[in-house]
Amino acid sequence: MGRVFVAGSINMDVVATAERHPKIGETVAGREVLYFPGGKGANQAVSAAKLGAPTTLIGRLGRDSFGQELKTFLAAQGIDVGFLQESADAHTGTAIITLANSDNTIVVIPGANGLLTPTDVSMPPLAPADIAVSQFEIPVTTVAAFFKRARASGATTILNPAPATLFCRELLDLVDVLILNEIELGVLTKTGLSDSDDIARFVDAARSLQAGGKPIICVTLGKRGVLALTDGQPLVIEGRAVRAVDTTGAGDCFVGAVAAQLAAGKSIGDALGYANVAASICVQRMGAAPSVPTATEVETAVVLTKKPNAVRP
Ligand code: RIB
Repeated sequence: MGRVFVAGSINMDVVATAERHPKIGETVAGREVLYFPGGKGANQAVSAAKLGAPTTLIGRLGRDSFGQELKTFLAAQGIDVGFLQESADAHTGTAIITLANSDNTIVVIPGANGLLTPTDVSMPPLAPADIAVSQFEIPVTTVAAFFKRARASGATTILNPAPATLFCRELLDLVDVLILNEIELGVLTKTGLSDSDDIARFVDAARSLQAGGKPIICVTLGKRGVLALTDGQPLVIEGRAVRAVDTTGAGDCFVGAVAAQLAAGKSIGDALGYANVAASICVQRMGAAPSVPTATEVETAVVLTKKPNAVRP
């Protein structure tokens, strides 16, 4: 089995729950304030670790109480925290989240995440069976350095380009598997995609990012499931009908699950089906990192999902 290395952000999520989201300029009364470990990098590492992969997280925290709390939490999930560093010059990353009707808005203040350097990600040793995962809550130059190194080691790279940012072809050429949602796909392809669009529109947009059938592209479509372009062909995995209470971190749970499955030697098709089930469990719980299911929970749900759910449209 390979190891999953995640270079990414670690945040304390400060969540205000309310009956509905305020409009611009409006104040609404909330219900409660909750604190959850989060950050796209941390969530993805928690997912990979809980779903069975030996996992290392490379990141930066501030020298403050959020930082200490988050490090303790991550270590308790079985993650190797030996490559987490403390920055004296910045606070721990913080996300201000409003949650209403299971949907969120998020403002991220990067703090120490913005100080993760190419040198930081050059330290851990990577091997050919390993999976290198990253996102855009750390500097893009650091992501590029991490993937160059991963490629040189023969490892597989997974990029989750979130929050959506335009980036150069040179970086995309370092990516083996690109996992993004429909909003991010719309930004990267400069098309106005919406979640109710025909699958064919997503296929066309995803294809426009490929060169010679690469990278594998996987578009998460919320309750509609997942669309992937593997071997140049579209593959649709139906969403599972569940009652969502909080979708925060579901995409990260998906990314970590794909990484863990690939590290275990599974095919991309199997990995995507498994990750789809993992994310469907995640949305039924509050919080980002704490809502990731265990491998046993996912396996039980996979058995209960009787009909085959992957089809070539
Ligand atoms: O993807 C969800 C995450 O985005 C949250 O945990 C928050 O920290 C932001 O980074």
